[in-house]
Amino acid sequence: VRAAVLRGAGGPEVLEVRQVPDPTFGPEEVLVRVRAAGLNRADLLQRRGLYPPPPGAPSQIPGIEFAGEVEQVGERVAMFRPGDRVMGILGGGGHAERVALHERLCLPVPPGLGWVEAAALPEVFLTAFDALFVRGRLAPGESVLLQAAASGVGTAAAQIVAATGARAIALSRSPHKRRQLAAFAPHVLDPASPDLVEAVRAAAGGDGVDVVLDLVGASALALHLAVLAPLGRLVLVGTLGGSTESLDLSLVMRKRLTLVGTVLRSRPLEEKIALVQAFRKRMLPLVASGRLRAVVDRALPLEEIASAHGVLDRNESFGKVVLTLS
Ligand SMILES: NC(=O)c1ccc[n+]([C@@H]2O[C@H](COP(=O)([O-])OP(=O)(O)OC[C@H]3O[C@@H](n4cnc5c(N)ncnc54)[C@H](OP(=O)(O)O)[C@@H]3O)[C@@H](O)[C@H]2O)c1
Repeated sequence: VRAAVLRGAGGPEVLEVRQVPDPTFGPEEVLVRVRAAGLNRADLLQRRGLYPPPPGAPSQIPGIEFAGEVEQVGERVAMFRPGDRVMGILGGGGHAERVALHERLCLPVPPGLGWVEAAALPEVFLTAFDALFVRGRLAPGESVLLQAAASGVGTAAAQIVAATGARAIALSRSPHKRRQLAAFAPHVLDPASPDLVEAVRAAAGGDGVDVVLDLVGASALALHLAVLAPLGRLVLVGTLGGSTESLDLSLVMRKRLTLVGTVLRSRPLEEKIALVQAFRKRMLPLVASGRLRAVVDRALPLEEIASAHGVLDRNESFGKVVLTLS
């Protein structure tokens, strides 16, 4: 099969598309012919040598989500048959024409959803669903501050927040992304505006925001501690703005805040399966009805993976960048 292979650590030039052996698959696994695969920040970090894949995942082939057709099934597979359309998350190896994974990590692709839209969905929607509900205990009527809201995770989260009957306050550094975000969130703000704390508090109403879905980390920590309401929850999902910062713990104590961090990729199989199955039950019907949809910035053929990496490196995309495989 053709796959994107890392020849070393560095810029997009270390990526090479070439033939590799087919993956093997176990008794509870399905072998999938990949039609499209999402590109994620994890792939960029792995390319730069900063994010080794978890044990068991291919070490030189990035790619943590895909959509495609089941080609073969292991002897104990019960949920899927050859020909079924599936999408899902992987520890790695997704930027290739075939992948193998546990059947319970696969989600059925709802009818009407194309390969590109399906491949753009699993990583960011599972991450946003887990961060908002499981880690952030989001409830209807609450307010959520979304950092880097024009990102893949941000555009997924904004839709989940709206579907929950909660209110999103969306931030983006880019003026044209802020204009696009108006379709996704009732409040869109510039993180560089001098009165940001007051503007976020005003948008949240009451005492401040109930949940921060944080993709930025260090550079936004002071803002988050200032705008969180008493009993607020800060869910740390990304560190685009750095990972080291000092923190006034007395504020955390006085406001009775919860600070929680999370990663998806390195979780044990059983935790990933539990998340995928909870998402299937609670969110997939909203995907099937069109209420939730992955926002796709652009799709490029696997051969153009280096320029696809460049789009993310330069923060150009609104939503997801997807690779297509013939
Ligand atoms: N923990 C997990 O399991 C998990 C899972 C998935 C993703 N993530 C993390 O979540 C983050 C978002 O991922 P994604 O794939 O959704 O990203 P993405 O689609 O590539 O979008 C990232 C956007 O963030 C903004 N940004 C970049 N650097 C920034 C900074 N220093 N301060 C503020 N904004 C910045 C840029 O938009 P603007 O033009 O608006 O600035 C950029 O386009 C990444 O850190 C990723 O590693 C974590």
